[in-house]
Amino acid sequence: MSLIEVKNVSKVFGPRPQSVLPLLAEGRSKTDILTETGHNVGLCDINLSIDAGQIFVVMGLSGSGKSTLIRHFNRLIDPTAGEILFNGEDILGFDTKRLIAFRRENMSMVFQHFGLMPHWTVLENVAFGLKVQGVPRKVRRDRAAEWLDAVGLAGYEDSYPGELSGGMQQRVGLARALCTDADVLLMDEAFSALDPLIRSEMQDQLTALQARLQKTIVFITHDLDEALRLGDRIAILKDGALVQCGPPSEILLNPADDYVESFVRDVNRIRVLTADTVMKPPRLRITTENLDEALRQVRASPHDFAYVQSGGEGVYGVVTQEGLEEGKRTRSTFQDVVQDVPSISANAPVEDIMSVALQSDFPVPVVDSDGELQGVVTKKAVIGVFADQAEARATRPGEDESETTVKDVPKTET
Ligand SMILES: Nc1ncnc2c1ncn2[C@@H]1O[C@H](COP(=O)(O)OP(=O)(O)OP(=O)(O)O)[C@@H](O)[C@H]1O
Ligand SMILES: [Mg+2]
Repeated sequence: MSLIEVKNVSKVFGPRPQSVLPLLAEGRSKTDILTETGHNVGLCDINLSIDAGQIFVVMGLSGSGKSTLIRHFNRLIDPTAGEILFNGEDILGFDTKRLIAFRRENMSMVFQHFGLMPHWTVLENVAFGLKVQGVPRKVRRDRAAEWLDAVGLAGYEDSYPGELSGGMQQRVGLARALCTDADVLLMDEAFSALDPLIRSEMQDQLTALQARLQKTIVFITHDLDEALRLGDRIAILKDGALVQCGPPSEILLNPADDYVESFVRDVNRIRVLTADTVMKPPRLRITTENLDEALRQVRASPHDFAYVQSGGEGVYGVVTQEGLEEGKRTRSTFQDVVQDVPSISANAPVEDIMSVALQSDFPVPVVDSDGELQGVVTKKAVIGVFADQAEARATRPGEDESETTVKDVPKTET
């Protein structure tokens, strides 16, 4: 069971929202409905589920319904139609008392413009959520101080928000949300006001905190780079409808339509795609150290080489048919005919592995965290990533050619 389930949720703004539902069901467009009825369609028949411990990113252009969606999760907005379940429980059925507890304990929100109290100290701001929960003063001050430390703001406890930079204020907002220990953090464009360096620092910090705390985070952004960097799953909204929902690699490799494609074109694929998304199935791996047996296996395989574990965990080498034959002739040992190959980890970005893969004489083995062979990355696969990127850029005339173009590929003899 997912932590949050959204079922057939539609939201219409206007005086008689229910009257518009039949038009939505007919598939009439948001613009049509607005011109004809004066009602604004915020969301149209949304279905999605969010698992505990995920960073779930919601993306889309301005007005596509991102804030409207996320505000349903803590019931700042109620749907015109549909259901929202939290841990299997229908949150629309909550009475006021239950709803207040739900907002305190289960859903905490980080706003774009920080929402800090200017006349309270940083520590008081962070401890605020706990005060509301009735946590004793000493406990809440200690816990707030811990969270300030966690977001890199130890020493600023007694400062006032106005004395802090925008990025620091945003971190206070994050500490405040984390401090409540809610199950879910709702972050609406939480990093959008930050300058790029601080923004990427915050992204790293959020990813690190998430890895440690296993919180569920629903994160809204305009920015696909940010979405790809943070998201375990990404939902893309257009005019209130969900056009695609999937893991980053799927969004990148199989955009559902032109709208998604237009986001994807901006992305630097080599930085985002990882080794495991471009690798091919593993080639022959042999475990014998007997020359004759190894030769028999290589001859029987479609390739003229095979991988062998040649050192500790995750260290692989290659034996070729030619090498094995030569070894037999010269009565060499098995180890004598093993050639070294570099290996790469499954989650390494293509950017980091390309020079290794392009310079290696053999497809480079991809190993998981246990050192197991998962697949291989060929030169062709790496070049394919560049080709896709170049093609995406070429289809958009008038754009300046930024960092990555085909000519950046290191030169090798192929
Ligand atoms: N209270 C409201 N009354 C009327 N229409 C609304 C209201 N809130 C949102 N809308 C409309 O619903 C649609 C979705 O708005 P929403 O704020 O969810 O977009 P968004 O994706 O968050 O945009 P942005 O990126 O600009 O924040 C828009 O057409 C908006 O005009
Ligand atoms: Mg918004």
